[in-house]
Amino acid sequence: MAMDIKTEEKIKLLEEKYGQMGQDINSYLDGLLLSNFLTYWDYIQVETLLTLQNPKTDFPDEQIFIMYHQITELYFKLALNEFEQIGNNGPDMLPNGKMVGWKEKLEPKFFAERVNRINRYFEALTKSFEIMVDGMEKEQFLRYRMALLPASGFQSAQYRKIEICATDFFNLVDKDVRPTYQNQKPPIEEMFKNIYWNKGATELSSGKKTLTLLQFEKKYGAEFVRLANEYKTKNLWAKYKSLSEADQQDQKVINALKEIDVNVNINWPLMHYKSAVQYLQQNTEDIAATGGTNWQKYLPPRFQKRIFFPELWSAQEIEDWGKGWVVTNVFRDNK
Ligand code: HEM
Repeated sequence: MAMDIKTEEKIKLLEEKYGQMGQDINSYLDGLLLSNFLTYWDYIQVETLLTLQNPKTDFPDEQIFIMYHQITELYFKLALNEFEQIGNNGPDMLPNGKMVGWKEKLEPKFFAERVNRINRYFEALTKSFEIMVDGMEKEQFLRYRMALLPASGFQSAQYRKIEICATDFFNLVDKDVRPTYQNQKPPIEEMFKNIYWNKGATELSSGKKTLTLLQFEKKYGAEFVRLANEYKTKNLWAKYKSLSEADQQDQKVINALKEIDVNVNINWPLMHYKSAVQYLQQNTEDIAATGGTNWQKYLPPRFQKRIFFPELWSAQEIEDWGKGWVVTNVFRDNK
């Protein structure tokens, strides 16, 4: 039987592809004849994935706690995958569909679409956070958490990487320290010493850094500084400013950025705070948080005032940051 003309063409293309690399297509065809068919379980690595839950106690609800953190970290990884693409202007494809590197120039449509992907990931996380708030027995939680000290979600490196990729590093400096820099922004290394999250990891009694923070800095400090230096010109704000004046006025672009600010800096933190209140607040007396910090004063967005794009908000909106006005419906309509 004569070979299908399409198959013949494909073989020719393959010959070209392997030839360009000095490879003999026949050896590769032998390999194809011998290799197994791909399966779902191998590709998705299901079995490995399901070995990654290792509780410290026998309380069944500890499984929920571990898996929900893992789910969150996977969403964070999805977000970082988008940040990398935006930072590099998006994938450059040849007409034959092969990716050949990154584009020279960022397109506003691509920018807004990818920022909205990140928005969807955070919306999914915010919606599903009820799993933490109402989905575990308080009795069990309060017991197994004692076996997890001094670990804390505070030590999520991907969460901090998302912030570093989103904004000018200056905006992540403790809000009380920022004014002391006046117009002169010091190098990243210097600003890192006053990163906002130090406030959430200072022992109430002694004013010293908590063990949770010391371990976090030891493991990731250098990596954060390196990433921040790399993203000086690649963070979302820098990429936005690289667009033409007209594109910067595009409402779709502006709304995508404002939404990400609300999603990451208000909506998710509020849900997360709700879980802390639910589990760690007993009557008026609070149970000391995992890291031994004053989390009630630290976690609420209205105290932190972490804002990625202050230039996009009015003075009043910044003043009211996290105070209950919820912006979602403002944007959804005119997207
Ligand atoms: C019952 C569920 C949870 C409770 C009670 C809780 C409680 C807390 C508390 C008290 C803090 C303040 C730092 C400390 O004292 O340790 C904190 C920080 C943090 N947690 Fe959770 N958490 C929960 C679930 C999660 C989940 C599922 C994640 C997802 C990764 C997460 C990520 C974080 C992050 C990123 C911080 C740092 C926030 C910041 O610096 O603004 N937490 N958490």
